[in-house]
Amino acid sequence: SIVNPLLRTGYHFQPRKNWINAMTEKKIENIDLTVSSENSPLYYKGWYHLFYQYNPKGAVWGNIVWAHSVSRDLINWMALKPAIEPSIASDKYGCWSGSATMMADGTPAIMYTGVNRPDVNYQVQNVAYPRNKSDPLLRDWDKPGHNPIIVPKAGINATQFRDPTTAWRAGGQWRLLIGSLAGSTHGVAYVYKSRDFKKWTRVQQPLHSAATGMWECPDFYPVEAAGRRKGLDTSVSGPKVKYVLKNSLDLRRYDYYTVGTYDRKAERYVPDDPAGDERHLRYDYGNFYASKTFYDPAKRRRILWGWANESDTSADDVAKGWAGIQQAIPRTVWLDPSGKQLLQWPIEEVEALRGKSVTLKDKVIKPGQHVELTGLQTAQADVEVSFEVGSLAGAERLDPALAGDAQRLCGARGADVEGGVGPFGLWVLASADGHERTAVFFRVFRPASGGGGDKPVVLMCTDPTKSSLNPNMYQPTFAGFVDTDISDGKISLRTLIDRSVVESFGAGGKTCILSRVYPSLAIGKNARLYVFNGGKADVKVSRLTAWQMKKPLMNGA
Ligand code: FRU
Repeated sequence: SIVNPLLRTGYHFQPRKNWINAMTEKKIENIDLTVSSENSPLYYKGWYHLFYQYNPKGAVWGNIVWAHSVSRDLINWMALKPAIEPSIASDKYGCWSGSATMMADGTPAIMYTGVNRPDVNYQVQNVAYPRNKSDPLLRDWDKPGHNPIIVPKAGINATQFRDPTTAWRAGGQWRLLIGSLAGSTHGVAYVYKSRDFKKWTRVQQPLHSAATGMWECPDFYPVEAAGRRKGLDTSVSGPKVKYVLKNSLDLRRYDYYTVGTYDRKAERYVPDDPAGDERHLRYDYGNFYASKTFYDPAKRRRILWGWANESDTSADDVAKGWAGIQQAIPRTVWLDPSGKQLLQWPIEEVEALRGKSVTLKDKVIKPGQHVELTGLQTAQADVEVSFEVGSLAGAERLDPALAGDAQRLCGARGADVEGGVGPFGLWVLASADGHERTAVFFRVFRPASGGGGDKPVVLMCTDPTKSSLNPNMYQPTFAGFVDTDISDGKISLRTLIDRSVVESFGAGGKTCILSRVYPSLAIGKNARLYVFNGGKADVKVSRLTAWQMKKPLMNGA
C-alpha cells in the first residue's frame, strides 16, 4: 500500500480494520467516495454505546451490520460483537442506519432501516430491544415478531425511505422522522406517530421538505434558546426552546442544518431564516457526513458524532485494509447566543489525552514569517491559539463574485497567496523541507461594497494542496465564513491533529473544518508544526499551547 500505516488515526474512533459506515459508491471529483452513515449513540448505566455501519468482510461498503463499541468516557473504546445483523425477512439484505430511543422505563429501543429485497434497495423500518436490560453493555438485541413496523405506503418512494431518528414524546405519543425523497427533487422528513412504539401512523404533512434531493440521516432536536451550553433531552419542549433540523444531503455529501421552531400541534418545523434551506449552514465545512446527535444525561450535554471518510482511493483502502474513521471527535453542540447558528467544541474528555506541551506567548509573527513549535511530537496534537491582528486597515477587498462562496474564495486565495490581513494560522503535518504542509488559516476581507455594512468578513480555510507529495490524493480545499466580530482584531483557533486528520474549530466553534490528509514525508516524528503569517500586517500570537496527544484504548488496536 502507498498509504503508510503510521497515518492511521490514534484517538479518533475507528474499528481495528475494514470498512466503517457507508453506502453506494459514487464518483466525486475523480475518486471513489463511499458514502457513510452512522447510528445514534446512547448512554446506558454508565456506558456510552456507539453503533456504526460496518462491513465485517472488507474495506468497501457492503454486508452492512450494526457494529458496537462501548466506552466510559467517549475516548477509550472496547469493541463488542455486532449488535444487529441481518437475521429476519425484513432486514435480510442489510441493517442500515437508525437511532436509539429511551423508553419510559429507562431501557433503549433501536429503530433501524432494513433492506428486505435482494434486487432493489427496498427499505422498511424495524425495531430491536435489549435481551437483558440488566446488562450495561447491552450485548444482545432481539427483534420482536411484529417487525417490520413501518413500511412505505401511499406513494412513498420505497427505495429512498430510511434512517429513523430518535423518537420524542409529546401528549402521550411518540414521534419520529424518516428521511425520504418526494418526486425527483424534494428531500422530506416524514413524521410517524405511535402510542406503543409498535403501531405507527404517518402524519399526512411532512415535518419539513426542501428542493435539495434525498435527505439521509435526518436529526431533529431541541436546544436552549438562551444559548447556554446545557443540552436538552430530545423530548423537552417549551417557550425557551429552539429546534435544529439536520439532513445529510445525498447529492452534496455534506450535513446541513437550520435553526427554527417546531409547532407540535401542526407537526411542522419552520426554519427561522426563510432562506435557511438554501443558505447551507453546515456542521463542518470539510469531510463530515451522516452525523447524529444524542443527549448525554450524565453530563447534560448534546453530543454530535460525524463520520469522516477517506480521501485516498478505494484501491488504497483495500490495500491498507481500513477506511473511514467513524467520527470526528465527539463534539458538544449548543446554540450560539445570536440564535443564528450552532457552536461546537470537542468534548472535555479529549483533554485527558493531553501530554507534554509547549507554549508561545505574545509572539509577533511578521509578514512572510513562520515560526516552528519545537520540543514535542506534533503528528498527534491538540493546538489552541489566540491571535491578535494589529490593524485591519490593510484587509483585501472582497471580490463580489466570490462573496457568497467560501470554498471558491479559498480556492482562489489559498494559503500561499499573499493577502492584506492573513492568511495567518497554522501549518500542520509539515515536513522539514517545507514541501509538505497543510495550512489551517484565517483571512480577513473588507466587505464588497454595497449592502452588509462594513463589518470585516472572516474566512476560515484548510488548504491541503501541499499536504502530500503522493500524486494520487484527493486534496480539496475546504472553507467556511466565520460569523464573528473581528473588529478588536482577536480570533481563536483550535486544531486537533491525528496523523491523517486535521480537525479545526474557528472562533470558539463557530466554523469547523475536518480534512483527511496523507503526507508522504510529514509522518510520525517527521511531522512539524508552525504558525505562519502570509499577509502584510503583523499578527500576534497572544498565546499558543500545543499538547502532544496520548493514545487511548481503541477497540483492541
Ligand atoms: C448514509 C446512508 C444511510 C443508510 C446507510 C447505509 O450514508 O446511506 O442513508 O441508511 O448509509 O449504510
